[in-house]
Amino acid sequence: MINLVDYKNERQYKTVFFETFGCQMNKLDAELSLGLLQEDGYSIVDKVEEADVILYNTCSVRQHAEDKVYSHLGALRTLKKKHPDVIIGVLGCMAQKDAQSIFKRMPHVDLVCGTRMFTRLPELLLKIRNHGNHVLAVDEDEIVDVKRIAAYRPNVYQAFVTVMRGCDNYCSYCIVPYVRGREVSRTIADVEREVLELVSNGCREITLLGQNINSYGKSLPGNITLGDLLIELNGIEKLERLRFVTSHPKDMSRDLIRTMSQLDKACEYLHMPAQSGSDRILKKMHRGYTAGYYRELIQYARDLMPTIKVAGDFIVGFPGETEEDFQETVCLMEDIRFQNSFIFKYSTRTGTKAAELTDDVPDEIKKKRNTTLLDLQKKISLEENKKLIGRKLQVLVEGASKSDPNKLSGRTRQNNIVVFKGQPALVGTLVDITINEATDLTLFGTI
Ligand code: SAH
Ligand code: SF4
Ligand code: F3S
Repeated sequence: MINLVDYKNERQYKTVFFETFGCQMNKLDAELSLGLLQEDGYSIVDKVEEADVILYNTCSVRQHAEDKVYSHLGALRTLKKKHPDVIIGVLGCMAQKDAQSIFKRMPHVDLVCGTRMFTRLPELLLKIRNHGNHVLAVDEDEIVDVKRIAAYRPNVYQAFVTVMRGCDNYCSYCIVPYVRGREVSRTIADVEREVLELVSNGCREITLLGQNINSYGKSLPGNITLGDLLIELNGIEKLERLRFVTSHPKDMSRDLIRTMSQLDKACEYLHMPAQSGSDRILKKMHRGYTAGYYRELIQYARDLMPTIKVAGDFIVGFPGETEEDFQETVCLMEDIRFQNSFIFKYSTRTGTKAAELTDDVPDEIKKKRNTTLLDLQKKISLEENKKLIGRKLQVLVEGASKSDPNKLSGRTRQNNIVVFKGQPALVGTLVDITINEATDLTLFGTI
């Protein structure tokens, strides 16, 4: 496919600027894409002006995420006029969703590459270089199979590993199933191979990723579950910690919670979005559980793992959400006492079931509800973090603290960020830190 002359030409173009929007899955796809490009001779630059190739890995989950990318793309028009050889590419969820129409709206874009085609990036860029036309790559049948190159990793000690792609849940507000496709799980052997390689390169903590991770295994033969995968990975020597995100209350089994509590490497941490505390709204969201069921699940987890911390997601202003519904969400947040929450204002996504309903909660009300939940979460996080003062917690040291480069920063098993003084040689090791100060976001302590 690639002849030698093309390949030599290709080598003259070596710099790539890459920016990612969206969730952890997108960030990991960005890491994998950059690995492939580096392997192909590209080096990464952090200014668009220095790049031969400019790539945006995009998100479609809310309108705001898309607007941001279109405004970035619009700003590149002049640059492209001045330097027509520069290749501009749109990857990820918005590329999958908007496909051909991106070229119509932004004719200076050269490449639109969907969620299942990024493994072909080097080849697609070469095609543009040789033929100069728009290239659209949004094939839905493509199976993502990427060889991870452990040498190109931003953080040696901590890694995300995709164990399944896609989502079959079709929550009524959500675009993800349309842009990420049907659920496909990787085999245990395949995941284990990747984790072993990461661990042999120094990785100590693995976070398994899936949009709906509790459904892991459903597409595999032989009743495989996420619990089976955790048990297998727990046996890897030198691996210290295992996490998994994101859990769905409907698919989160008590068996899995029990398995977590029995495995020494499985961290006491759950990211399990509740979305709303009102059963009426949960039903309209097609979430398949009630607020009462959510409370019971968390209680079960806390009975088995008393130190477990829970992170949540909430949507405010879903169509038809009344003040009463919202107060039930406030009540759920107060009852569960999440460690942290991601709170979003409802945004209509064309093509989803909820888009058939009128987006009738005015934006001021959405904003007000958003602020109310943010303030409540902040208060709860601070109170919960203060309870940790005086406790000794195990921390995996990640590197210099972002707020104070003279200090180190790391995470507890419960995913709390801890900042403390220590030698750089401690990076990548587990240390015990006694906590002596806390804010809503960070714990501070001494070794
Ligand atoms: N697969 C994950 C995350 C999906 S997207 C999960 O199911 O938990 C991340 C979060 O974005 C969701 O949990 C939800 O809170 C929010 N979200 C999704 N669609 C949205 C929409 N149309 N408007 C506002 N927030 C949305
Ligand atoms: Fe979207 Fe629901 Fe799937 Fe999460 S579980 S990705 S919110 S459809
Ligand atoms: Fe956004 Fe796609 Fe993730 S829509 S939230 S980047 S799966």
